[in-house]
Formats: sequence, structure tokens, C-alpha cells
Amino acid sequence: MIHIKRYRPFLTRLLTRHLWPSLAGLTLSFSVSAQTQLGQTADRPWLEPTLNPDTRTQLLLKAMTQDEKLKLVFGYFSTDASWKNYQRPAEGLKQSAGYIEGNARLGIPVIRQTDAGVGVASQIGPDPWLRTALPSNLATAATWDPELAFAGGQMIGNEARLTGFNVMLAGGINLVRDPRGGRTFEYAGEDPLLSAMMVAAQIRGVQSNHIISTIKHFAFNNQETNRNTLSSKIGDTAARMSDLLAFQMAIEQSEPGSVMCGYNRTNGFYDCESAWLLNEVLKTDWGYKGFVMSDWGATHSTIPAANAGLDQDSGFPFDASPYFADALKEAVANGHVPQSRLDDMTTRILHAMFANGLFDHAAKKADIDFKDHALISRTDAENSMVLLKNNQKILPLTKDIKSIAIIGSHSDVGVLSGGGSSQVYPIGGLAVPNAGPKVFPGPTVFFPSSPLQAIAGRTSAAIIYDEGTDSKKAANLAAKSDLVIVFAHQWLAESIDGNLKLDGHQDELIKTIAKANKKIIVVLENGGPVLMPWLDKVAAVLVAWYPGTNGGEAIARVLSGEVNPSGHLPLTFPQSASQLPRPHIDGDINQPSLRVDVDYNIEGAAVGYKWFDRQGLKPLFPFGYGLSYTDFNYSDLHAEFSKEQLSVQFTMSNTGTESGMGVAQIYLAPAEAQTAIGWEAPKRLGGFKKFDLKPGQSAAASLVIDLRLLAVYNSAQKNWSIAAGDYNVSIARDAQTSVITCRIHVPAQTLNMRGEPQTFGDQK
Ligand code: BGC
Repeated sequence: MIHIKRYRPFLTRLLTRHLWPSLAGLTLSFSVSAQTQLGQTADRPWLEPTLNPDTRTQLLLKAMTQDEKLKLVFGYFSTDASWKNYQRPAEGLKQSAGYIEGNARLGIPVIRQTDAGVGVASQIGPDPWLRTALPSNLATAATWDPELAFAGGQMIGNEARLTGFNVMLAGGINLVRDPRGGRTFEYAGEDPLLSAMMVAAQIRGVQSNHIISTIKHFAFNNQETNRNTLSSKIGDTAARMSDLLAFQMAIEQSEPGSVMCGYNRTNGFYDCESAWLLNEVLKTDWGYKGFVMSDWGATHSTIPAANAGLDQDSGFPFDASPYFADALKEAVANGHVPQSRLDDMTTRILHAMFANGLFDHAAKKADIDFKDHALISRTDAENSMVLLKNNQKILPLTKDIKSIAIIGSHSDVGVLSGGGSSQVYPIGGLAVPNAGPKVFPGPTVFFPSSPLQAIAGRTSAAIIYDEGTDSKKAANLAAKSDLVIVFAHQWLAESIDGNLKLDGHQDELIKTIAKANKKIIVVLENGGPVLMPWLDKVAAVLVAWYPGTNGGEAIARVLSGEVNPSGHLPLTFPQSASQLPRPHIDGDINQPSLRVDVDYNIEGAAVGYKWFDRQGLKPLFPFGYGLSYTDFNYSDLHAEFSKEQLSVQFTMSNTGTESGMGVAQIYLAPAEAQTAIGWEAPKRLGGFKKFDLKPGQSAAASLVIDLRLLAVYNSAQKNWSIAAGDYNVSIARDAQTSVITCRIHVPAQTLNMRGEPQTFGDQK
């Protein structure tokens, strides 16, 4: 049985009553197998792979009829929805996100779209794809290791391709402006540089498979409450120095074939009909050559959307009307949407398909190396885990422990994952059947990778499990054990915001157990930050995030010391919601059509740690925080601004007794008050580098800093400027703990849109 996403019922009713009969024929009328005809280039020169994508696109565009162009901009949902008499197109893949008709005459391949950022996801239904899941995107960001992000992207892209998909809806990069956001686990944290580096690496990995990746959700789609109706309010300058900077840098570094516009409105306009976001910022200012696809149900018009820059309508059944079908044809015919606009939409889609190899390397179903992929997922997970507390070096687990109580979160059978459209269903089935909501964004999926079994395989201690539903019973067990490992979780899911709390009674459970035994290790399986009212009562806290397919094994390897934890927080853990720019989430989840404003001008570009710095707030754990089983030190910090380039050199040393990976973080700060030169906050992350070092080993690094991170955006001139003056460059353990600082003088500089020093006559 197919269930409706929360926000969709009214659209569904509309569709069933008014639209479906006329569209049924549309869906079922084609049967194309473009790939079978690839290679016949005599009368179809665009199929010649040695020509460049621009030339191929132009050749093909000229050969297309108006109807053929229109088909390319119109997307289907590729999941059966019996409740509205909707059948996925015969050539679409089951329980997947989308399908766009191919063209046998011209050799245009069918487009098959799959979610999302951690692997080949499935829409809710009876027969999901069983695929490898990476840890959550937030977890991957916590590795601070773009190479791992690339490897993960490459792996999930490979599974997408070998499942038959050629577009992967990965690339979530909205900055976490609100850590309660239900999709926090799908994004890469709160900093534009870290997010861009990690998401760009993932996109490059996905696209290395001759498939397209999206980047999403463009833009200011930062909370789930009223996500289809709210308007994010933000000024141009603050926007370009925060969320848009993350998108911009990631797009520059990875050239994703498509950008997905979000559900929300920004400054009053739906994202998918915002001429400012799509035509001005993305396509003109950044020179983006790919195409804009709408989120599923995020298209609200034909003429405004097309003219504002939307290139492809996705999953049309989710819209109130099939805006890019007959209505678009008519709008072009009568000139409300210029012919040049339809040609541009077509050009952009075809260009992305040519540039990413969709015409030349058909995605086909084939065997997947799940064993190898599980290892990639495990490596990502174990490098993402953040050790927040480790009193008296209780971790790694020592050999002398005789008995361990393992409590809670179904840790005897599996690990948690985040819910919604990005949900990957595991090989081996659900570890906990019937968990969570029966409708979207459910179910709550636990992957069958048991932390308990993995721990048991690494210790001679006797292990007793307690499910943690009865605090007193769990405390009795704790009292009788040498050591306690409590697994605590927070399930986040698309379409519902969280509240910074562990689910259910787990805070109380941990407090009760902590009264019975001092040796408590808390392992968190969390989608984002949680409050820890029990923090001073426990000995250790390990943030395991949603650790993916092999999460149980990854957790055990970190607890046992086989792997030294090296993750660092990609976002601030607040002490309470009252520290956030908006202590209460705007809007009302029970009134889905409420049109509220969410005022992001409160913090402007000061997102996350920048807000905490600016307001002088002390978080529970700062951005960048993370302990290790070894110690690192830094020396020889040297920064130099010369030849219009800022370079930073330093040495990092492992001064402890264990091998391990450490993350060096570089922060930049104007020596005078930031407000005098228009900075949003006292400091910004300027660069980072992860090293793998043996005890006693040192490594030297040299980083070149993106000059936009020293600059302020000028909305009127559409460029960046660096104020002349002194700047502090610090090497730090986290956003609050700098180790060495040096000072440099920087002359006044104007940078173009891409952050390059501007020369005479340089417009962009
Ligand atoms: C989500 C997108 C997703 C799409 C297709 C939407 O609900 O917001 O991220 O790609 O569905 O499943």
C-alpha cells in the first residue's frame, strides 16, 4: 500500500478528481529504448562521443521538434500510487523518485532518477530496492575528509548506475540554520566551506559513474515545519555570504548536472519561481550551465516558473496541475514563455546529459559488489564518529572488564537511519520490523548491523542486553556490571522537525542508570545535535550519528580502539533551544498551509558557531570539536598574503601514544571589530586538513585560502571586497580552542564573483 506524504493529500485529491484521467494516456503511451540505438551516428551526429557537449547539444537541439523538447522538461513520479490510480511509467524503475521519457528517434536516453545522499533509496511500498547505505551526510561531513566523501559518492553512484538509474538526487547542502530541522542529517552542517568541500567531493564521486547528481534544495529550505508555504526572509548580502556561498563553492568544485529548487518560498517567491535565485544568482552571476529541476511538488505555476528559470518539472503528480505539460506548450505557443526559454531548458538538460556521459554509457542493471561497498560505508562511519567525552580514558575498552551491560536502542540487532525520501532499505531486511510511522516519513528503519554482536566479538567480558524500556530494570543490570554502554537515539525524518531531544524517555533512562554505575558510556545514534542533561553523570559520550549499513561494526571498532575516533562536529551542539536565533520554530506543523515568514535576517550570515561567537554564547560542544585516543599538537604556523594569494603553512604532530587521524582547523578573524568591516561574526573557518599520524610522527601542510573567506559581498557591485588591515590566522582544535595564532596584513582587494582578484574590465 502506498502512503501519502504529509503535505500532499490535498494535491492528491485534486489530481484524482481533475487531472488523472487525461494524464493516464500520457504516462502509458511511450515505449522507448534509446540506448539500444546508441552508436548510430551517421544521421545523428550528436551521438558521436568525440564531439564536445556544447556541439552535441546544439546539433541535437536543432533536430528536435517542439513536442520532443516539451517531453524532456516534464517529469513523472516513478512509484505506483494505486490510491490515485497512478501507475509509474512502464519504463520507470519501481518505488523510485522519477522518470523522464526518452526518445528513440533521436537516441535520447530515458532519465531514471533515484534518491538520495546515502545510497539508492526507495519510496515507501512493498518491494523496496535493498542497497548499501552510507552513514548520514552529516556524519560524512564529520569526517572532515573529502576523499572519504568522494569514495562514498562513487560507491552510491555505482549502485545507482548498476540499478539502472542515471540521475541521483544526492547533494543536500542547505546550511543547518536550525539544528532541529528534520533533514539536518541529510546536510553537511553549518559552515559554507566545510559543507561545500564535503558535498562537492560526494557529487564528484557520484558523477564519476557517468550519471548526473543534483545539488539541493536551492535555497533556504532550512526547516520542515510549513516547508511548502513558509517564506525565508534574507537579504542579498547575507544570503551570498552563507547558504548561497556553500552552493556556489560546491557547484564550482563539482559541476553537478542539476540543481533542485526547494519547496519553500524565499523573500516571498517560491524557490522554483524565484527569478532572483534561479536566473540571477545561479545562472547569470555564477554562470551555471546545468539545469534546474523542481523538488517533487515544488512547482506552482507554468509561466512564472518557466520564466524564472525552472528547466524541468519533477514528479508532476505532486503538483496541483501538470504545469509543464500542455500548459507550457500553450504558453510557448502564445509567447508568454519565449521559445528561446524552452530551447534553453532543453539545452541545459541535454548539456548535462552529454557532459556526464548519459548518452555514451547507458546505466544498466548488473551485479553490485555489496561486500566491498559495505566496507566503504564502514570506513566512512568509523571516521565520522565524534568522541565528545572520555573521562579517565575509559575508552577504548580495556581487556580487564569482566561484564558489560548493553542497554537500549535495539543495539542487540541494529543501528538507526534517518527517515523520508532518502531512506535506503537494507540488505537483510529491517532489523526492527514495524518501527515508527506507517505512513511517510516512516517507517523507522534500523539496519541489521548489531553493535552488541560486534562488541561481543571483540571482548572476553560477559555481555547482558537490556532493551531499556524499564529504567529501573536497566539500572539493576547496570549495578551488577563492570561497565555500561547505553545506546541512545534521536530519529529525525524529512517533513517533521525535531526538538534537540532524545526520543521518548531516554534522558531519564540514562540518568537512572548513571545512579547505579559511574562507568557509563553513551553511544548516540542521532540525526543532529541533542541536549545532554545527563552529561556530567556519564564517563564517555560517542556520537555515532546514523552510521549506515555496517554501523554496528563501525561503532564496535571505535569503542574497542581498533579505530581511533577522528570525527569532529560539523555543527554546534547548543546547551538549549534558547541559544538559537529562533528559540521556537516558526509556523505550525498542524497547519500545513500556513504562510509564515522565517526571518533569517536575525542571524544573517552568522550561522551556527558564528552566531554563538557573535552573541558571546557558550555552546554545549562547539563546532569542530572532537577528541581522540591520542594527542595532537601544532607548530610552525606561518601565513602569508602575497601575489594576491593567502597561504597558510603549519606542522601537525601526533604527541600521544596511539596512531590516529586529527583535523587541523584554520580560522580567520579580522584584528579589529568585525562589524567595522562588515563581517557577520568574529571569525570564519578558512581551511582544514586531516592527517593520519603515527605516535611521534609529524606532517607539514600548506593550504591556500579561498579569498571570499576574507571578504564581504557587495550586492550593488556584485563582487567581493577585502578590507585592508590586519587579520589573525589561527590553527585550532575547534571553533573555541585555538592553539597558535599569527597575524598578517592584507591590502584592500576586490574579487570577482568566483573570489578571484579582479583585474581591469573583469565583470564577473
Ligand atoms: C524531497 C527531495 C527528494 C524528492 C524525490 C522530496 O520530498 O524533498 O529531496 O529528492 O522528494 O523523492
